[in-house]
Amino acid sequence: MNTQPDSSAQNSCPEENKHIPLCVPEIRGNEWKYVKDCLDTSWVSSVGDYVNRFEDMLKQKAECDHAVATVNGTSALHIALLVAGVRPDDEVLVSNLTFIAPANAIRYAGAWPLFIDAEEQFWQMDVQQAVDFLEQGCEWKDGNLYNKVTDRRIGAVLPVHILGHPVEMQPLLEAARKFELPVIEDATESLGASYQGKMTGSLGDIACFSFNGNKLITTGGGGMITTSREDWSGKARYLTTQAKDDEVEYCHHEIGYNYRLTNVQAAMGCAQMELVDEYILAKHRIAERYRDGLSDLPGLTLMRQAEWAQSVWWMYTIQIDERQFGCGSRDLLKHLQQNNIQTRPLWQPMHLSPAHTQTSRLKYDVSEKLYREALSLPCSVGLSESDQQRVINEIHQACAR
Ligand SMILES: Cc1ncc(COP(=O)(O)O)c(C=O)c1O
Repeated sequence: MNTQPDSSAQNSCPEENKHIPLCVPEIRGNEWKYVKDCLDTSWVSSVGDYVNRFEDMLKQKAECDHAVATVNGTSALHIALLVAGVRPDDEVLVSNLTFIAPANAIRYAGAWPLFIDAEEQFWQMDVQQAVDFLEQGCEWKDGNLYNKVTDRRIGAVLPVHILGHPVEMQPLLEAARKFELPVIEDATESLGASYQGKMTGSLGDIACFSFNGNKLITTGGGGMITTSREDWSGKARYLTTQAKDDEVEYCHHEIGYNYRLTNVQAAMGCAQMELVDEYILAKHRIAERYRDGLSDLPGLTLMRQAEWAQSVWWMYTIQIDERQFGCGSRDLLKHLQQNNIQTRPLWQPMHLSPAHTQTSRLKYDVSEKLYREALSLPCSVGLSESDQQRVINEIHQACAR
């Protein structure tokens, strides 16, 4: 997604009407220095010190034993599914209210997504629906769990921690252990968040991060696989480097992928990681200011944090009750757009996506409601107090009308 402001428009606008983008990268550390180092030394491709350093930094932040850098978060998900043993024609339980990447990655592995609705409080995967489905919608056959309706094997569970807040993992982990299913976390939107004191990315068996332009830290495009299983990290490294078995003879025993991150991108990632705690603090401050500025308006539900969670407030989002607020989410989006402020609804729920079909129909009321009513607000790490105040004022204006 291109969330970059149009700089020509920015220059020609007076300060009070300048474009406020939804979420743009913050580049103010050692990025130039480290990238220049790659160019000066010719270490520009998919091996190099910065790749190793970036993996180490991620490993530490996510409190995992192993990290493997990839070209993007989607490829990380693809490889994680393969490493976790997901096979063609399996089904994978996955969040219904998410960016489309995890559902697509499941298809790349030849498997089928089985969408699980969101819950109302924190807008994450409804783990109760997932557990109920595993308990009641499935049956054991020959040491595997099968969907009673489709007769497909259940291959894995893939919760997506959306918007910077974790999924309630405990019931899901317990059910997964009971049914011997691997848990693959999509932690692409939640670097730095934690669940019951444990970092996202370290909760399941394997996890994925993304560093595209709107994520907490960016490498332009990039991703990471984290796991505490040495054999799985080795397999991930092998599959992301074309499954090369012999450096000299170029022997390959499997179909691999060219999914490794370059040293240049990793250089940028290292510089970004040096400031990640500052970025998280900035996201917290932005969330606080929205809470202070918007909590008195009728019909708005502000993003919440569960008592068992530490959110990073990656993408600040509000839910709008049209009758009480006075206008709906799309009207508010238009009002803000007219005032040069970029906002975005949540994603079309996966069960409505023409790109994905599934035969098991569960209830998706919460995802549908959030799709209609939610709107993400400007929340770049570099968002100034005065720009944020302009967003808050315009939301008040829209409500007053
Ligand atoms: C929930 C989620 N999963 C996966 C991805 C895919 O990451 P990437 O764009 O790096 O492929 C993204 C972001 O783009 C995402 O928001």
